[in-house]
Amino acid sequence: MELQFSRHRRLRSSASMRSLVRENHLRTEDFIYPLFILEGEKKRNEVASMPGVYQISMDYLQKEMDEIVSLGIKSVILFGVPTEKDECGGGAFHDHGIVQEATRFIKERFPEIIVVADTCLCEYTSHGHCGVVQGDRVLNDESLDLLARTAVSQAKAGADIIAPSNMMDGFVAAIRAGLDEAGFEEVPIMSYAVKYSSAFYGPFRDAADSTPQFGDRKTYQMDPANRMEAFREAESDVAEGADFLIVKPGMPYLDIVRDMKNTFNLPVVTYNVSGEYSMVKAAAQNGWIDEKKIVMEMLVGMKRAGADLIITYHAKDAARWLKEE
Ligand code: PBG
Repeated sequence: MELQFSRHRRLRSSASMRSLVRENHLRTEDFIYPLFILEGEKKRNEVASMPGVYQISMDYLQKEMDEIVSLGIKSVILFGVPTEKDECGGGAFHDHGIVQEATRFIKERFPEIIVVADTCLCEYTSHGHCGVVQGDRVLNDESLDLLARTAVSQAKAGADIIAPSNMMDGFVAAIRAGLDEAGFEEVPIMSYAVKYSSAFYGPFRDAADSTPQFGDRKTYQMDPANRMEAFREAESDVAEGADFLIVKPGMPYLDIVRDMKNTFNLPVVTYNVSGEYSMVKAAAQNGWIDEKKIVMEMLVGMKRAGADLIITYHAKDAARWLKEE
């Protein structure tokens, strides 16, 4: 009897053959590396739940950036960790705030590096929410002006990209209008358009000290069970002028990454968040997984799903591993 079947293994016969037909590739240029900048000086604290990730004061920034540049990483996203917080997150839009100062520092010394400024209030508010709070409610429209002011002060400091992550309705419209009015019509917005209310942000909140002091973020961040809602969120952000769309978290939401890639003609970014990083690190430290292989498989999986860019705490390691190849 003559069997009829396909010989898929022909294209897997050797490393060279596999390389020839490989469909997706990781590039160090695809990575955006998050930095946590502490107020004060001579501080470099490892985040307990994120081994290998440090909060650093400005005096460590030169060394950090030298390393980043030597690895070939071209973009960073900045988060500020202030010593003092207030009700309305004043530190976020202060012209000499942490992110603003760190942006100036980097752009003066490393002009070719893309500085993405995370635009949110939660690291700067005493209650830890991403907007203005009244009683137990997070107010939407009252928060928009503060976000626009934050974005403008970040653009003034030289930020190349504004990345609003607070999930208030109309945040892209408000920030776009604010930037344009201040003469920053050339500065793009990388919107956290599709941001789920996720337990995977837990370790980040240790790193950024931004845990909400009451309640949770479920009235503004999305329900993990929803897909149609992702289209609604992205559609409105595109209409309001977003230049990039972020899907966040990464790994558990790669179906949504593919949806966004297929639907919108904008660069899609996936945020491989803190909890994803911590799980890999913990398993690797126990000797349960091969860290390098796991990380590279996860990252190329994100590209295969449709991500053009990846915000990831693994960026430095992955850049090193790509160099070795
Ligand atoms: C701020 C913000 C958060 C993250 C990025 N920007 C935390 C949150 O929304 O609670 C999470 C990033 C990560 O977990 O790595 N709004």
